[in-house]
Amino acid sequence: MASVGAVGSAEPQILIVPDYDAMSRAAADIVAQTVMAHPGAAISVPTGSTPVGMFEALIEKVTHGDLSFDHTQLFCLDEYVGVTADDPNSLTGWLYDNFLTASRIPADNIHTLPATAADLTAAAASYEADIANAGGLELAVLGLGGNGHIAYNEPGSPGDSRTRVLNLTEESINQARGYFEGQSVPTQAITVGVGTLLEARRIVLIVSGASKADVLHAALHGPQTPDVPASFLQRAPEKLTVIADEAVAARLR
Ligand code: PGA
Repeated sequence: MASVGAVGSAEPQILIVPDYDAMSRAAADIVAQTVMAHPGAAISVPTGSTPVGMFEALIEKVTHGDLSFDHTQLFCLDEYVGVTADDPNSLTGWLYDNFLTASRIPADNIHTLPATAADLTAAAASYEADIANAGGLELAVLGLGGNGHIAYNEPGSPGDSRTRVLNLTEESINQARGYFEGQSVPTQAITVGVGTLLEARRIVLIVSGASKADVLHAALHGPQTPDVPASFLQRAPEKLTVIADEAVAARLR
């Protein structure tokens, strides 16, 4: 595993690992260490294809009795507006199916975005308060969208944005269209904000595959800009760990 920089320095820690499996195992190890060191802490994990291997590795640890999420507070990162967790296209529902149920995190410790609230602005503020009341995020694991989003902070998201509703880009709506066959496709999401994520005490960005090499390079070395919301991670180098496989790290060398 190649490693550049270190936690505590002014440079992010960048772990370059051979492949997706190694990325998944390295990320799962950090989650497990964090949960064991801070049993009551709040953490967040992303949705998408990237974290699936990490979830499998974590579930294996739980199944073998090597890890317990009994006291962990889990904050979901995003959801389509108007979509309930039991909708087959819900991001929250997806997270239950792929991680939350098998991880045995107690139901009371799982915090989901208030995507169907009558007053979304007030509900988003209350979600922020819930994170603060849980002591803030000890760890935020993030994926990187092909358009540079983190959580569902689409291009245009400021670095100080908080949990809020925002319009999805055409690209994301078209992506969602594939899943929402025969149903109206959501055009808005509610997401934890970039500024909220930057307040986590540790941030782990997991990225895999050659198709994201350019956007990862832009996020880490390009200008800090709302056009690439992940570029604001450069504001928190001392708490950022990037776990990238060889393919996506090609441009970082
Ligand atoms: P992906 O999505 O893991 O499916 O590529 C990443 C993201 O949008 O966070």
